[in-house]
Amino acid sequence: MAKEVLVVFGTRPEAIKMAPVVLALRESPVLHPVVCSTGQHRAMLDKVLPTFGIEPEIDLQLMRPAQEPAELTARVVTAMAGVVRERRPAAMLVHGDTGSSLGAALAGYYEGGVVGHVEAGLRTGDLSRPFPEELNRTLISRLAAVHYAPTEQAAGNLAAEGVERERILVTGNTVVDAVEMVRSAASKAPLAIPETLLAGRRLVLVTTHRRESFGATLDGICRAIARLVEQESDLLVIYPVHLNPAVARSVRRILGRHPKVILLPPLAYLPFLRLMSVATLVLTDSGGIQEEAPSFGTPVLVLREVTERGEGIEAGACSLVGTAPERIVAEARALLADPGGPPSRARAANPYGDGRAAPRIRAHLEELLSRT
Ligand code: UD1
Ligand code: UDP
Repeated sequence: MAKEVLVVFGTRPEAIKMAPVVLALRESPVLHPVVCSTGQHRAMLDKVLPTFGIEPEIDLQLMRPAQEPAELTARVVTAMAGVVRERRPAAMLVHGDTGSSLGAALAGYYEGGVVGHVEAGLRTGDLSRPFPEELNRTLISRLAAVHYAPTEQAAGNLAAEGVERERILVTGNTVVDAVEMVRSAASKAPLAIPETLLAGRRLVLVTTHRRESFGATLDGICRAIARLVEQESDLLVIYPVHLNPAVARSVRRILGRHPKVILLPPLAYLPFLRLMSVATLVLTDSGGIQEEAPSFGTPVLVLREVTERGEGIEAGACSLVGTAPERIVAEARALLADPGGPPSRARAANPYGDGRAAPRIRAHLEELLSRT
């Protein structure tokens, strides 16, 4: 009988990045994926899962309005301990650095299970940024038995913290698998705004959601966007607003009535990738978008003081511009004046992966679990 691998996620980016792993495990003759959603996100998760034909077998429905990391993570630990006790999977996979991932890894560890960490080893070296993700992923690295590092840099971070090399596999980031799976469908997806709005205009795609930016910093980012569209007359900003109420508060107050800024609800994955592919520029503090944009050759200005994703910067695909409004405006204008200049618009290989990460994880797990 096929051995069960519990694949756990709770948020939008985890769902997108774990989808290729679930699909690869479905092809395995010896392993069987059991998809478990913590439901940390609700609407945003429902927007992306259908794209991959995945419906969670277990749905814990743990989201609460305006939740804080402590309470959410506590709910995940309790609920996931029950799931692991009942299912006794051969292994459990968690992803990245969310409260769902830390809570599930902790529950798996306490219940004596094998925890595999997908997208392991990302570090900024600053526990306050991103908050609380830098702590979450560092703790998961202590709990996991096997570490699927997306890049050599991530593997190096783990090794520097004392993780044995034989427990680390460099796989590439599964988000590149996800992009390649849907690239063709995304190119035909609806544009999310009437095409006529784009005539003669350059599109700037914006997203924000980092907790350490809430309040004054996010207000400043929004003011920078308003200033940018006032100074560059042919720009149209499209801003799918994250459902965290702390994000919406700043964004709607400062940009809500701006004629050249279109605020949208979170988009389904395909329309979002379509916008990314036609955008002249992306401004974001997202992790996943830094990794996806190089697949479309769209330059990214990263609205953060530090990033754990140095590969995109080194490749010239992304540029770390911080959160000070003057600098954001200046860097965006410089790039718009010379879109062919660095960061490069040329579509080079994506530094985060080759689109084959999920089959590597599957093959490794098949081998690992054949010994248990
Ligand atoms: C979480 C992750 C972050 C990840 C982000 C992706 C943690 C600590 N943070 O942050 O690493 O980058 O997701 O987006 O796990 N909400 C809804 N509907 C939804 C989703 C969210 O209404 O579908 C609202 C709710 O009020 C919820 C709030 O957003 O309480 C915050 O959600 P939460 O998952 O706690 O934090 P994020 O800021 O989304
Ligand atoms: N995304 C999406 N719809 C949107 C905005 C983002 O499908 O309206 C996707 C995006 O392509 C990427 C992921 O969501 O794969 C990023 O999620 P988010 O920025 O919320 O989290 P992070 O990557 O920072 O953890």
